Amino acid sequence: MSKRQQIAAGNWKMHKTFLEGQGLAQEIRTMSESELTNGAKLLIFPPFIHLQSLVKQMEGSAIGVGAQNINEHEQGAYTGEISAAMLKSIGVQYTLVGHSERRQYYNETNASCAAKLTAAFKHQIIPVYCIGETLSEREANKHFDVVSEQLAALKVLSAEEMSSCIVAYEPVWAIGTGVTASAEQANEMHIHIRKTIATLFNQSIADAVAILYGGSVKPDNAQALFSMSDIDGGLIGGAALSSRDFINIAKGF
Ligand code: PGA
Repeated sequence: MSKRQQIAAGNWKMHKTFLEGQGLAQEIRTMSESELTNGAKLLIFPPFIHLQSLVKQMEGSAIGVGAQNINEHEQGAYTGEISAAMLKSIGVQYTLVGHSERRQYYNETNASCAAKLTAAFKHQIIPVYCIGETLSEREANKHFDVVSEQLAALKVLSAEEMSSCIVAYEPVWAIGTGVTASAEQANEMHIHIRKTIATLFNQSIADAVAILYGGSVKPDNAQALFSMSDIDGGLIGGAALSSRDFINIAKGF
């Protein structure tokens, strides 16, 4: 069992109206306080409209609240965008960076992700940097190379920043499809990720970084995934919309 922080992170994507979000967050808080005894850290990533109220609602709990995206610029004429300083000003502590849906539908690249990572740390927001290959990349046996290229974006970080950065490996073919990478398949990639971080930084930083697996994590497969040597938790989409499932996943450590 690793000594790294074990994390269950819920990515709500574009789900939940204001009241629905408050309800879900309250259920997660209540259940985690009464049932979760394994020390796992919970993070929730709701849509932007929820952030200010959920930061307040989670005050005094161990649950961290994060954004699903962050803009790389400090401020300016970027209609529709939200800056790191704005997120920080309402107490947001975390942000996803480079989720595959943002790479796929909003043209985010490794370069724009690198700028977002920098912007987040500039305002003391901890990024969860999301990486992962598509099905065709895996079938072409390019998955290790693709992930290495994505990881190269981390080079913009200082060693100290990298020590608190979180990485999430999410094979695109496993997201929302019901197909999970096998625990062995996922762990093989997590080991590759840790080795790459050791090359980019050093071994002790690599050993300390939490690497989450994402892609159809459910209560019935979480335990097998979380028991692997290099899997430190999960980034959970669909199942994080149910407080019961999310808490049961977090009990899988
Ligand atoms: P999923 O999504 O759990 O619904 O597969 C994971 C994610 O995209 O973060």
